[in-house]
Amino acid sequence: MNVKITHCASYLPKTILTNKDLTTMVDTTEEWIVKRTGIKSRYIADPSETVLDLAINAVDSLKGEAIDALIVATYSAEERMPNIASKILNKLNMPKVPAFDINVACSGFVYGLSIAKTYIDSGKFERVMVVGVDKNSKHIDWTDRNTCCLFGDGAGVVIVSKTDDNKVFDFDLGCDCEFSDDLKTEKNAFGDEYLDMNGKKVFKLAVNYGEKLVKNAIDTLNGNLPDYIIFHQANKRIIDSIVSDFDIPKDKISYALEHQGNTSAASIPLALDLAIKESSIKPGDKILMIAFGAGFSWGSVLLEY
Ligand code: COA
Repeated sequence: MNVKITHCASYLPKTILTNKDLTTMVDTTEEWIVKRTGIKSRYIADPSETVLDLAINAVDSLKGEAIDALIVATYSAEERMPNIASKILNKLNMPKVPAFDINVACSGFVYGLSIAKTYIDSGKFERVMVVGVDKNSKHIDWTDRNTCCLFGDGAGVVIVSKTDDNKVFDFDLGCDCEFSDDLKTEKNAFGDEYLDMNGKKVFKLAVNYGEKLVKNAIDTLNGNLPDYIIFHQANKRIIDSIVSDFDIPKDKISYALEHQGNTSAASIPLALDLAIKESSIKPGDKILMIAFGAGFSWGSVLLEY
């Protein structure tokens, strides 16, 4: 079956947390954060704004669209059950379709796209909604300068639809479980879960897998470069290290992280929505999305817009 992304929307919370703000919270400087990460500011949800609220705000403009299934990628749902997906359907009065969450941390959205494609290939579904949403701010230790400068909150959504047009769609997924302890949440004495990571190890893994996934995509495109690449928006230096091996113009790469930070499962759909709004992507473009995160999970989707 041929599939394409037919709809895209996103939501960012109102509060902007700048690097200057962070200098009043931890021992850091604006220069250090920009130089080491490329991030200048990020959006942070109000304490009362839940992961479900973020997702609902993103999905709202698409709630009237016909869908056959809803997949929500998130690691930060407030409750273990019911899942966020069923709550979205209920709150927005959407059709009573199969709805479920997946947790592949920052790789979740790309995994969700692969499931959507496989569902459509099965012939049972024609339109699958995939949401990526995370409220990282709830799981950040705001006294830990190693992590608090990197993350933000947000949500993004697409509808993947069956099409009669001949379209490229390929995916590549994996999990290097040997490194699962290098990026995780840990419970403190009060039972709250905070993000804990070996930044240097994660950096190297991300660059290694990123390079392999770009090479695989170029092979799939018979030696041609994708028209636009959206990497998981974790660190500008990770992105620049990956692309340094390839001759890819900077305007063909998303740097949404500059004003969004790392929004985990939301990072790729947020960057996609921004690229569509800024006309960085046009119909027919071959878009490569590359993600990595806790697990250590990695994955890519190459699709024709
Ligand atoms: N401000 C100032 N100094 C900081 C700092 C901050 N916000 N955070 C760390 N430092 C310090 C460190 O304490 C260290 O000091 P020391 O040399 O006195 O010990 C120094 O800066 C260098 O730290 P280092 O870990 O070498 O920095 P780095 O260049 O590796 O950058 C990260 C740190 C976290 C930005 C980087 O490793 C990274 O982005 N890793 C990947 C993280 C990631 O993407 N996670 C999510 C994946 S989904």
